[in-house]
Amino acid sequence: MTNLRIRFIPHKEVSPDLQIEIDTLDKLAFADDDIDNDPEFSSIRWAIPDWMALGYRNEELVTQLSMPKREIMVGSEKVWVAGIGGMATHPNHHHKGYGSALLKETETFMRDTLQVSFGLLICADETQRFYELSHWQRIAGLLFYHQDDQRRALHTSVMILQLQNQTWPAGEVDLCGSPW
Ligand SMILES: CC(C)(COP(=O)(O)OP(=O)(O)OC[C@H]1O[C@@H](n2cnc3c(N)ncnc32)[C@H](O)[C@@H]1OP(=O)(O)O)[C@@H](O)C(=O)NCCC(=O)NCCS
Repeated sequence: MTNLRIRFIPHKEVSPDLQIEIDTLDKLAFADDDIDNDPEFSSIRWAIPDWMALGYRNEELVTQLSMPKREIMVGSEKVWVAGIGGMATHPNHHHKGYGSALLKETETFMRDTLQVSFGLLICADETQRFYELSHWQRIAGLLFYHQDDQRRALHTSVMILQLQNQTWPAGEVDLCGSPW
């Protein structure tokens, strides 16, 4: 029981003031991230999400994630997924269960509202445990995405969450656009 109030908002309806709150939390949470020193990551232009999931304690934004919805290719099959990007809890509120509570509600949202077959995210090896505790599974250490008319490889942990009665196909994961 976390007393977290959760809102799902279409990204295009995020007001300028709310966007500032989201950006502030993002900067705080990822302050120690050295992703920009990794040549595979530093040139990425990240996908614009379709939805934001926001978790509030009283009126304070304490945890958040962004969600694109996209049809991707896995091997030779098309698969509808909802992505999870920018998963972040305010550093003052780590280890209170807020991130997991947001993920849990997001799972229901992806299944019932977005009606996609799978969730898909990428993360550092060290963060994998957080998602595994919410039943996400690592399925690859590499995926492909598209930017500037190129198909690019990205070496990273790729994790999925099965949401419907569909088996994850065999083969390379191609995001068919920008990563998240
Ligand atoms: C990852 C993050 C979102 C977790 O948020 P949180 O609200 O603290 O998570 P929870 O309290 O729900 O954690 C539940 C459990 O997940 C595990 N866990 C939490 N944070 C973790 C981390 N950073 N790495 C690995 N496992 C983690 C722990 O087992 C934790 O249980 P515990 O509190 O009893 O130790 C938060 O640490 C964060 O914002 N980190 C910086 C940004 C980041 O790396 N985001 C992920 C991008 S892929």
